[in-house]
Amino acid sequence: MQPRFDPEQVTADDAIVWQESKLFLLDQRVLPQQVAFVELNSATETANAITEMVVRGAPAIGVTAAYGMVLAARAAYQAGAVQWRSRIRAEVDLLRRSRPTAVNLFWAIKRMDQLIGALADDEDPTERLLTEAKAIHQEDIAANRAMGDLGAELIAAGSKVITHCNAGALATGGYGTALGVIRSAFKSGKLAGVYADETRPWLQGARLTAWELLQDRIPVTLLADGAAASLMRQGEVDWVVVGSDRIAANGDVANKIGTYHLAVAAKHHQLKVMVVAPTSTIDMSLPSGAEIPIEVRDGAEIESCGDKRVAADGAEVWNPVFDVTPAGMVDAIVTEKGVVHAPNEEKMRKLMIN
Ligand code: MRU
Repeated sequence: MQPRFDPEQVTADDAIVWQESKLFLLDQRVLPQQVAFVELNSATETANAITEMVVRGAPAIGVTAAYGMVLAARAAYQAGAVQWRSRIRAEVDLLRRSRPTAVNLFWAIKRMDQLIGALADDEDPTERLLTEAKAIHQEDIAANRAMGDLGAELIAAGSKVITHCNAGALATGGYGTALGVIRSAFKSGKLAGVYADETRPWLQGARLTAWELLQDRIPVTLLADGAAASLMRQGEVDWVVVGSDRIAANGDVANKIGTYHLAVAAKHHQLKVMVVAPTSTIDMSLPSGAEIPIEVRDGAEIESCGDKRVAADGAEVWNPVFDVTPAGMVDAIVTEKGVVHAPNEEKMRKLMIN
């Protein structure tokens, strides 16, 4: 079964759908050539879908894991009300191990776990947990809309922006973080140009960011990742606007590999760097970016382009999929609770206790 499956009607805001007691994910591995949903009936299937990048992007992974917890608890309770709580642990661990860098995954699991701890022993957990997962989903959309407005306010009329990876509706509960700012700034007529890095090796920029922006009728120019510095030198960029997978207590930012590269080039050209992320992306338990676990994926992703193998046989491959941009290179972290200019530990702590 496919939810709302008229490919012409599906938008990036429909990427995570709970329907008829099942979870459907818009398959981000095949967009934009195919618009298809993957149906998930268990937490194990949900964890695999996260690992295999059916869904990706930090907040979207968190929302998906929350629905995965509903599936885990429902299955355990249906198998017998006694000790259902201890019987979900193996599947919750699978969800936890599905990807390491985006902290939103662990944040969402913790929030669902807190509710599980508060339920009565013999209570059917399904409806209460589903309500919580839906709340996490809706709160993320609301946070993105708030950040869209806050971030757009920082951008002067006539600005040109560049983004990296996909930090849009697909990567979140809906609307997007970095793309939320771009959507809001475009709506207020402020943007004179939007550039998107293609983002090797998964091509989230070429496939997903371009698809989302064009669905929204926002003109976008794609470029190879290595072209960004030349674009900046030609005076074509005012702001780098990106999302994040985890922000450490001192304001260091982990995001898609190539973000650091972009920030280095931006600082060389005296351009501004904006990071847009909900507070569920901020991990105050890690003092700096050096402690953020960086996922290293299979080298086969670098050896091929799409399904086609392109690399010479025998070359070693290094495939870290995130990097860390030091706080000192970030001009503003935009969250739903407010904007942190020139982030440091003191300002991050102040934001998080508010
Ligand atoms: O490997 P991915 O596609 O999950 O990486 C996603 C990113 O790095 C995004 O830029 C980040 O999650 C911010 S999404 C709102």
